[in-house]
Amino acid sequence: MGRRIILLGLSVLLLAAGCGDEPGVGMEVPVEGTISGPSTPTPYALEVPAYLPAPIVDPENPVSVEGVELGRHIFYDAEILSTDGTMSCASCHRQELAFTDGLDRSLGVRRLAGSRSAMSLVNLAFNPNGFNWDGSAPKLWEQAIHPVEDMLELDNDWEEVLRKLRADADYPARFRAAFGIDNTAEISRELTIKALAQFERTIISADSKYDRVVYHNTDFFTEQEQLGADSLFFVENLPPGALHPGCGHCHNAPSFGDNKFHNNGLDDVASLDDFIDKGLGGVNGNRFDNGKFRTPTLRNIALTAPYMHDGRFETLEEVLDHYASGGHDVENEDPNITGFTLTEREKEALLAFLHTLTDESLLTDARFAAPH
Ligand code: HEC
Ligand code: HEC
Repeated sequence: MGRRIILLGLSVLLLAAGCGDEPGVGMEVPVEGTISGPSTPTPYALEVPAYLPAPIVDPENPVSVEGVELGRHIFYDAEILSTDGTMSCASCHRQELAFTDGLDRSLGVRRLAGSRSAMSLVNLAFNPNGFNWDGSAPKLWEQAIHPVEDMLELDNDWEEVLRKLRADADYPARFRAAFGIDNTAEISRELTIKALAQFERTIISADSKYDRVVYHNTDFFTEQEQLGADSLFFVENLPPGALHPGCGHCHNAPSFGDNKFHNNGLDDVASLDDFIDKGLGGVNGNRFDNGKFRTPTLRNIALTAPYMHDGRFETLEEVLDHYASGGHDVENEDPNITGFTLTEREKEALLAFLHTLTDESLLTDARFAAPH
């Protein structure tokens, strides 16, 4: 009899905990608890072809098999990440679009004015120069703080995400396996974004036709693709005035993006103070860096339209027309943006070459897909 009363009392308590409608009410009960299960992370061996640069190692966030798996779950988990359960990282970074969203500017979140186009998430492990178009996030794991906040409504914040993770049936054991923690109270913002970054670091794209032809010798370029590579894409546009496309100067192989910051001539501004989006200059306060953005990779470029930080160009043809026009002679424009003329045949060859950078296997690779 006495035992039943205690049980009854307990279930009332649990009910009260589950029914806390108002924020802050009834949250304490599921928040803390000892976690059991394996606690030793297994080091993750990143598979990187020898011709790619060595991945940058982040001593603050060693990659483990369990950490990657945890990160993948969070990346795809709309219930955990957004207040109304509709949005996860994958809403804007869709695998079938090489982890972009197909929109000029990303939708559905509280973004500040001057919002930008979602970036592809491939080969992030090789970028030493800060993340986002303007390099505003020095570390990959810190980058994820903002998208999560953006996915939440005003009255919620990271605490809400952590509360859900701690109360979940599955996540505590995953956090323990990845980071060796003992108690759900140790599930923190830092560990959550570190897991996301571990997953992101594994997304390596190196299985395009370009890779097969140039590095594996298992395929051949068509004559058109070869023309696009040898006579157009990789022909250096120096000295200034040489009028070659010279794309490879900044979009250099094997990464096809130098990760450095340039003004590639998009905006016609009267003064360096007039850029709508200041890019790097908005981050470091250096006026001469206004309008400079990080050169993104052109790997999978045929899949990631629309193009540029604000998605202003819908097609690769429009991109070529932009570069051919030579920009606007703004004083910090890169000297390699000089303009050029292409015949129709050359334009098609350059486009054909750009299509050889598509990595089809990335789009269906189960390691990067939503967990079941
Ligand atoms: C609403 C759309 C949206 C959502 C949701 C979103 N992102 Fe993004 N992501 C973007 C945009 C836009 C950028 C470019 C931001 C900038 O330059 O200011 C970006 C940039 C990034 C970058 C930088 C890539 C690079 O090469 O520098 C990473 C990494 C990233 N997002 C990861 C994530 C993760 C992890 C999540 C989930 C926690 C997430 N994103 C959720 C739209 C989104
Ligand atoms: C001076 C360096 C430089 C040269 C030369 C250059 N680019 Fe770019 N490219 C950039 C930068 C920087 C960006 C990002 C600009 C932005 O969004 O504000 C970019 C963006 C792009 C994008 C959009 C990528 C995306 O994810 O939206 C495409 C496509 C592109 N370049 C193709 C080319 C082609 C083709 C050529 C040769 C005709 C070329 N680039 C020459 C620096 C360069």
